[in-house]
Amino acid sequence: MSEPTPDSTLFDDVVNLAKRRGFVFPSAEIYGGFRSTYDYGPLGVLMLRNVKNAWWRSMVQLRDDVVGLDAAILSPPAIWGASGHLTTFSDPMVDCRNCKERHRADHIADTCPNCGSTDLTEARDFQLMFKTHAGPVQDEGSVAYLRPETAQGMFTNFMNVATTTRKKPPFGIAQVGKSFRNEITPGNFVFRTREFEQMEMEYFVPPAEAGEWFDYWVDQRFAWYQDYGIPAEMLRLRPHDADELSHYSAGTTDIEFLFPWGWGELEGVANRTDYDLKAHASASGERLEYFDQSTNERYTPYVIEPAAGATRTMMAFLLAAYQTDTVGGEERAVLRLDWRLAPNQVAVLPLSKKPELEPTAREVLALLQPHFQCDYDVTQSIGKRYRRQDEVGTPWCITVDFDTIEDRAVTVRDRDTTEQVRVPIDGLIAELIRRTQGS
Ligand code: GAP
Repeated sequence: MSEPTPDSTLFDDVVNLAKRRGFVFPSAEIYGGFRSTYDYGPLGVLMLRNVKNAWWRSMVQLRDDVVGLDAAILSPPAIWGASGHLTTFSDPMVDCRNCKERHRADHIADTCPNCGSTDLTEARDFQLMFKTHAGPVQDEGSVAYLRPETAQGMFTNFMNVATTTRKKPPFGIAQVGKSFRNEITPGNFVFRTREFEQMEMEYFVPPAEAGEWFDYWVDQRFAWYQDYGIPAEMLRLRPHDADELSHYSAGTTDIEFLFPWGWGELEGVANRTDYDLKAHASASGERLEYFDQSTNERYTPYVIEPAAGATRTMMAFLLAAYQTDTVGGEERAVLRLDWRLAPNQVAVLPLSKKPELEPTAREVLALLQPHFQCDYDVTQSIGKRYRRQDEVGTPWCITVDFDTIEDRAVTVRDRDTTEQVRVPIDGLIAELIRRTQGS
């Protein structure tokens, strides 16, 4: 396949939309922003939650072999010493002596991408974990780290979870939550940030089964992105070369998305072997093993880990969904998001601001709210309001007009086809549920 051409227009359009319509705001914007951190606005928080829920649904709810966990973000050096992060979780960094910018040595050639100078320092290792202190005394004994991955909480709780749930391998522990990395070069909007959210699952298996479970999870996860609307041609699998494997991995395959600047990782599926459980067992002196009563055997399970980024994945869904087309001779921007990811599934739109429409419109809103996340909008012309909803991906608009008061029917408009049909209020929920079927 030929190399993809970067589409900077798409990137700019989506970033502008995200800001303008309340998906993602630069953090601390009134103070000029803060170092590539972002806040998720009213629509972004809904969509990000939908992405995380979609992941949780497929990884936990629809399975009987995976359970959930929500571990602490603040963690002691002991965890990161044992996991290997204190010694190996670093990126090579170079400084430009001319403009003083700092870059990841493995991301640039021999030239500063900021000023073009070739006067760069030697590469030095830069520790990526955020260090802080827990408690009132700021000394070596109070050092704590913000977790750079959610994974370790699942290893340190392995025995707690195995004992309390009576799960036996193969079984998994899933977690969604914030992780922090002091990235040298964050950028490309929320693609690489210092504070981000991960969706990770550690799947504990008998060592002999690691290979087949690895293939299974690569397939499952690859299918998940397509199930939620990313076209197959915008996704690819990329096995890691031996020299780029993480310190714990015996094999990793990335699921990559075709970002406007080229292929980029959405998720890594890794065979972490028994590296982490053995490391924590040895450092803590605790047994982190599974005792198989049927065979009287004790062993340390291998771990297959599908590790995805929630915030980065949300960005990929936005990029894949953004399109422009022409409706009634007018160009419109439309986010063709899967209804399960769209911030609002339904918008209730009284045709006019006239007070006689409001009671029925609010009745329809109250009817739908327990079933769907709804918006309610009375401002501007109905055409403008349809465009506004199209642009933020709302799959269905429900228009309440003057006939509604008489015939108790509303118009349902479809975002993608713009087709409108009249539906009795009594049958509205059934009609919308019918439209959600099949996904
Ligand atoms: N526990 C394994 C692990 O953390 P990783 O490949 O470093 O593996 C997993 O991270 C996923 O987390 C990545 O595929 C990416 O989607 C997301 N991620 C990692 N660093 C990120 C960052 N700085 N900003 C946004 N997302 C990030």
